[in-house]
Amino acid sequence: MSSFIIKTCTVADGPAIGRNNVAAFWTDKTWIQIWGDRTQEHVAEQAAKRGRRNLLLDRAHRRHLQAVDAETGAVVGYARWVLPDGGCSGDDSDPCHRLWTEAQIPDVDEEVRREAERQSASADWTFTRGPIDGIDAPIEAMTAKLRAGKRYMVLDYLCVPPAFRRRGIASALVRRGLEEAEKLGFDTFVLAMRAGLRVYQKAGFVLLDHVLIDATEYGGDKDYGGWCLEKKCVSTP
Ligand SMILES: CC(C)(COP(=O)(O)OP(=O)(O)OC[C@H]1O[C@@H](n2cnc3c(N)ncnc32)[C@H](O)[C@@H]1OP(=O)(O)O)[C@@H](O)C(=O)NCCC(=O)NCCS
Repeated sequence: MSSFIIKTCTVADGPAIGRNNVAAFWTDKTWIQIWGDRTQEHVAEQAAKRGRRNLLLDRAHRRHLQAVDAETGAVVGYARWVLPDGGCSGDDSDPCHRLWTEAQIPDVDEEVRREAERQSASADWTFTRGPIDGIDAPIEAMTAKLRAGKRYMVLDYLCVPPAFRRRGIASALVRRGLEEAEKLGFDTFVLAMRAGLRVYQKAGFVLLDHVLIDATEYGGDKDYGGWCLEKKCVSTP
């Protein structure tokens, strides 16, 4: 079993990260069912087309980490953190965005950006959720209430495909972000799915509240839900 390295990302990593993310979430029954009869391979290729553009979204606040196989360089995990928005502009040059710039996607020229947009627009990413649409409303309400008035650095996305799990990859991605939050003096927040709960609790996050939803009637999990956790910064920058 080869080891892994935690690295920052560039736009060129977008397609591999897109494929990685679909492989990881394809173990989530509630997520799979929104794709109807489309195959994992098909969805992964669509995610690959969207990958570059997704990495370029909100460069001001989003910070990205990937885990790669130390031997092959293949992507084996991905995490996205979001810096607090202190009422700043969305302008990349705003001084409040000059934080943890190492994990910011390096900017690209207009031609690369346009090509990323073009590829993304060509992806088959439309789906009708049907009755499952709205299932997350109580989770969203809980999250909005707990985040109101708080200035959190948020762990927005975390995933590791099944073939690479239980090696500490997710924990390492979480730890790397938490180290940075600690340096910057930010409390951190995560809305967890059940699969990620233990990883966060082991990393020091404390449960604030949760919502349980029986999603079986929509083809999802019986114990679907959302768990809101926070980790207070211990040091003052
Ligand atoms: C949740 C998820 C990110 C965890 O990824 P992971 O890389 O397997 O996580 P870790 O390896 O850091 O920790 C998972 C378990 O492996 C254990 N582990 C860590 N290093 C290990 C090692 N070297 N050998 C064996 N087990 C190990 C951890 O202790 C933990 O065990 P526990 O669940 O019994 O506490 C992954 O399952 C996933 O992507 N799921 C689908 C997407 C998802 O739900 N994402 C989270 C959204 S909130």
